[in-house]
Amino acid sequence: MTPPVIEELTQEFGVRLWKARLDDSGDLTHLLDPAERERAARFRQPRHSHRFTAARGALRLILGALTGQAPGALRFHYSETGKPSLTGGPHFNLSHSGGLAVCAVSAQGPLGVDIEHIRANTDQERIAARYFAPDECAQAVGAGHFFRVWTLREAILKATGLGVAGMARLRDQTVAGRAEVEFNGTIWRMAEFEPEPGYAGALALARDH
Ligand SMILES: CC(C)(COP(=O)(O)OP(=O)(O)OC[C@H]1O[C@@H](n2cnc3c(N)ncnc32)[C@H](O)[C@@H]1OP(=O)(O)O)[C@@H](O)C(=O)NCCC(=O)NCCS
Repeated sequence: MTPPVIEELTQEFGVRLWKARLDDSGDLTHLLDPAERERAARFRQPRHSHRFTAARGALRLILGALTGQAPGALRFHYSETGKPSLTGGPHFNLSHSGGLAVCAVSAQGPLGVDIEHIRANTDQERIAARYFAPDECAQAVGAGHFFRVWTLREAILKATGLGVAGMARLRDQTVAGRAEVEFNGTIWRMAEFEPEPGYAGALALARDH
């Protein structure tokens, strides 16, 4: 069985980032708990089921190595909005897009990571007008900038655990080019990274915790 190729990316302010290519991975179903296996079985397309399983498997392999626990024995807890966590830490967050997953891990505090495969998206203008700060709209459309701004926003929303439900509340904050963004009572340290060519990636970490 081929495990996924897991590669460590550069660290951003002490947060460790790993990427895994999901389509190259063997079947990691044996690492998943019953609820995860149920989720994997609900995907209509086998490719999506395989990617979910590979991403969760890679996440378990990384967290298992860091905590010294068996990957399959890790028990995730979930917030009301579905953010997974581990009792006793470390803090972590996962994002996948297309055939790639990125896992971010920190001992310091809550964090969120988002990656997006950069693609032609005819809705860019509409989405930017609805969710981006006015000064970000014009520059955000085209040339991959849309996905930079989108991933920065999603990283903050995933760090808070709010998810996309918080998108409208974040609208008035400019995020592009900011080292820190204040939102939901917390100052978030921001970083952008390129997990691989053709992808945008962003990370948000609680500054004071
Ligand atoms: C989290 C969310 C923003 C993900 O967006 P996405 O860009 O499609 O997906 P990503 O790949 O970047 O992230 C998904 C991963 O983030 C993690 N995640 C799930 N919910 C999360 C949340 N609320 N906050 C942070 N991370 C979350 C999970 O690990 C998930 O992957 P997995 O389930 O395959 O392990 C979106 O699904 C969301 O808003 N969820 C919240 C839904 C909600 O509010 N539910 C209310 C109860 S009904």
